[in-house]
Amino acid sequence: MKMVLIINGPNLNMLGRRPKEHYGSLTLDEINQKIIEENNGHFDLEFFQSNSEGELITKLQQAISYDAIIINPAGYTHTSVGIRDALEMCSGIKLEIHLSKVDERETFRRVNLVRDVCDKCFQGKHENSYLEAIRYLKSIL
Ligand code: DQA
Repeated sequence: MKMVLIINGPNLNMLGRRPKEHYGSLTLDEINQKIIEENNGHFDLEFFQSNSEGELITKLQQAISYDAIIINPAGYTHTSVGIRDALEMCSGIKLEIHLSKVDERETFRRVNLVRDVCDKCFQGKHENSYLEAIRYLKSIL
């Protein structure tokens, strides 16, 4: 079975308490449950969340040969050369996810260090950004 890592960065463990107009109202556990339902046994899914840049980088290194990585780097999207460099080494399909319309928000969020090392970006649809990514992977893998 093809291996897919779903990896979430800082503050995404606090979904449900973050501004709903940007991030929706579901918790991360509820989103992960929806991802499992959308996947419907198609891929072997592994979930990981951390608030720490180093832990995220170590997990990406462990997933270097996975078939796909679905990543929401959260605030590190805009700052982390380390996460970008780790992603660049990963050989599978890499999908960048954002719950909010990150390209249309504050100017500092338009700095994006991961976009060009990812194959595609799904953003602005709250939890549906993740579900669209799963559907996309099903269509190509
Ligand atoms: C986010 C957007 C980021 O700018 C922000 O720092 C986040 C979440 C999103 O999913 O919309 O924490 O990645």
